[in-house]
Amino acid sequence: MKTQESATPRRLSFEIFRYNPEDPESVPHMQTYELDEAPYMSLYLALNQIRETQDPSLQFDFACRSAICGSCGMMVNGRPALGCRTLTSDLPDVVRLHPLPVFKLIGDLSVDTGTWFREMVEKSEAWIHTEQPFDPEATEARMDDDLAQAIYEGERCIECGCCVASCGVANVNKDFFGPAGLNRIARFMMDPRDARNDSDWFEVVANADGVFGCIGMMACHDVCPKELPLLEVYAYLRRKSLAAAFAKR
Ligand code: SF4
Ligand code: FES
Repeated sequence: MKTQESATPRRLSFEIFRYNPEDPESVPHMQTYELDEAPYMSLYLALNQIRETQDPSLQFDFACRSAICGSCGMMVNGRPALGCRTLTSDLPDVVRLHPLPVFKLIGDLSVDTGTWFREMVEKSEAWIHTEQPFDPEATEARMDDDLAQAIYEGERCIECGCCVASCGVANVNKDFFGPAGLNRIARFMMDPRDARNDSDWFEVVANADGVFGCIGMMACHDVCPKELPLLEVYAYLRRKSLAAAFAKR
């Protein structure tokens, strides 16, 4: 690896997974592209340069370029990461890129995270359940600062799917809520505006597809680009589930 100001640019080799599931002629394979490294080059810049100068057929996703939209997750040398936030200066001369596993492949590095997240949200009904009629004239309900902060932490998830791709359980159990799903469930469990009680949530989350499916490898915690407190989320869900179980006895 070289510093950003290095006079002679490194020649980088990108080995990229290529496959178009829509094309019956397409066969999964790796394709190599070479590029001179530029100062402060991100994978976003490198892939765009490859597409503009070498191969317009290369598929990958980016929108915000600033770790906000969550669309650029990919496997970078075997580890899930955001392409827009990964600098080539932090990578070796050979960079291997694969699409995130778990999600449906659209083509090359592009995957459909949206369908996975929508199904997870629908299955857990991860939205506010309330009988309160909407009153546009009402003043905002007050919320304890610490609780508001805890809910905000959960809301910082950008649904990039990196945690899901890193999760051994999500890779083998398609019904597992996954780290991002459990994080979203916890966010609504904490919310005092949601009318569901501990017993209702127990039915959603206290099972092998929920928090008790987690086998504690915690790769999700290591790869989350937003550094969400996923360990605390699982501890919260386990505590609430056990409390609900004892209350049922
Ligand atoms: Fe991405 Fe982190 Fe949200 Fe997982 S929890 S989807 S890694 S932002
Ligand atoms: Fe939006 Fe990377 S392009 S998160």
